[in-house]
Amino acid sequence: MQSQRRAAAPRHVGIIMDGNGRWATRRGLARAQGHEAGMHAVRRTAEAAANAGVQTLTLFAFSSANWKRPAGEVSNLMRLFRVYLRADLQRLKQSGVRLSIIGRRDRLGEDLTLQIDQAEAATAQGRALHLRVAIDYSARDCIARAAAAAQATPERMGALIARAAGPEGEGLEEVDLLIRTGGEKRLSDFLLWEAAYAELWFTDRMWPDFGAEDLNAALAEFSARNRTFGMVPDEPRPAAAVA
Ligand code: FPP
Repeated sequence: MQSQRRAAAPRHVGIIMDGNGRWATRRGLARAQGHEAGMHAVRRTAEAAANAGVQTLTLFAFSSANWKRPAGEVSNLMRLFRVYLRADLQRLKQSGVRLSIIGRRDRLGEDLTLQIDQAEAATAQGRALHLRVAIDYSARDCIARAAAAAQATPERMGALIARAAGPEGEGLEEVDLLIRTGGEKRLSDFLLWEAAYAELWFTDRMWPDFGAEDLNAALAEFSARNRTFGMVPDEPRPAAAVA
């Protein structure tokens, strides 16, 4: 059980990156161009998170429900993930970013899974930021697989769910701050267990426009919040009680 603490700085931030399609449509562009712009926002945000001292950043890039999108959009997104891994691997390594992909691997295709394995191995020593990208990810699927794996207590479930999400789950902090862009206010099957006590922060900003300024605004608001973890709020005691 975590003890009550003032929300100083989030160690683990999760982001539901929403709004790529609408960002593109509003500009008369193809949805694919929205996703492309979203990739630049991923780069900006990871850099800003490392600069702000965030230890772990988990980005929701492709949910297991996203397979229901038109085949052309799905294959374009898979191509974009391969582009990202190829283009950014050296930079991630140089900046000390450890990259992990969470979610199912068995439906991703050989090329992408191979690139993921290589990128994870190449960045495994990174200590500046742990960047986790969720691809073919469903929190419910992780919970169901973890529950099937063992006689589960709530404490043990956390470790099992982290392991069900990917091989790097050992010792992972729960989510402190969960951000969603694009104006919707839903969790959409993202980190349901890990974000049980996360502070939520929603913005109308479309993901491709998101950057350091937005992340820092979310971090500042997080710092001002009082986290109680189900306990009594941490308020100054009245003078009579102090005496
Ligand atoms: C949600 O916006 C976004 C996605 C389903 C894809 C996320 C992908 C990226 C940010 C691009 C690349 C990512 C990496 C990690 C390299 P949406 O398409 O649902 O937007 P809409 O709600 O406006 O239609």
